[in-house]
Amino acid sequence: MGDTPDTGTQREFAFEWADFERLRALSQAHTGIVVPDAKFEMFYARLAKRLRALGLSSFREYADYLDSHKETEFSKFINALTTNLTSFFREPHHFAYLRDEIVPAARAAGQSRLRVWSAGCSTGEEPWSIAITLAEANMPFELLATDIDSDVLDTARQGIYPLERLDGVDERIRKRWFLRGKGRQAGKARVRAALRERVMFQQLNLVRPFRHTEPFDVIFCRNVVIYFDKPTKMALIQRFAESLQPEGYLVMGHSESLHGLSNQFRPVARTLYQKQEH
Ligand SMILES: C[S@@+](CC[C@H](N)C(=O)[O-])C[C@H]1O[C@@H](n2cnc3c(N)ncnc32)[C@H](O)[C@@H]1O
Repeated sequence: MGDTPDTGTQREFAFEWADFERLRALSQAHTGIVVPDAKFEMFYARLAKRLRALGLSSFREYADYLDSHKETEFSKFINALTTNLTSFFREPHHFAYLRDEIVPAARAAGQSRLRVWSAGCSTGEEPWSIAITLAEANMPFELLATDIDSDVLDTARQGIYPLERLDGVDERIRKRWFLRGKGRQAGKARVRAALRERVMFQQLNLVRPFRHTEPFDVIFCRNVVIYFDKPTKMALIQRFAESLQPEGYLVMGHSESLHGLSNQFRPVARTLYQKQEH
């Protein structure tokens, strides 16, 4: 613990290194997210609101409370710790590739629809961007969007966003696929019902076994595995390969790569991979 943070700093809630160890072990065992020592302050900041809400005065009390109230508190603990940063059409080259390469190839192969999974969908901007891209291309689709965090899934499902979230989105797309709020909903926009009906949201923990009824053509799992350790990443990539069609695609985040993790895929575009048969 060379760079151990000063746990004696005057704080609203007492937070000892042992509390950090105890709580991060619990969160890592459940989510796969590795919390390095350097995240001590971030951990405090994210969980402080839970202590405030529960009227507790120390993290030790909180860890004890969590132990004895798993049913009600555990999901709130996990929701407080996840990193949910996302945006509409984030990493736009992936949506261009979907429109310009994947959809035409599927059509040429006589496919009547695309099955897509947004794994780690956060507040929904990613699956809505996928849905808009496919709807604009007149490609029928089935789209599953999942996350471990039940709060972000509620937001995703509702599809209501402050207008600023749509700042970078093309005006024509905004008009076609979003409804501007009026009265009490002023300053917000909602994904139109025609699109909302076409996406299925589900809570799913990627580090637990999962099974889907049919394989997918494309899996988006962007900016999620970055927080996992190597064995967890390798096991997940293997399960993604098993969940994909023979020439299915896996889309990763800008700082992620399959290098050294799997030889079942070949890179076809920036952080975008296609499954290959051996
Ligand atoms: C940074 S966001 C990425 C959102 C979106 N994919 C993007 O790239 O904009 C990471 C998401 O992964 C989710 N996540 C983290 N660990 C997970 C796990 N074990 N199972 C499912 N989702 C997880 C988090 O809750 C969070 O919403």
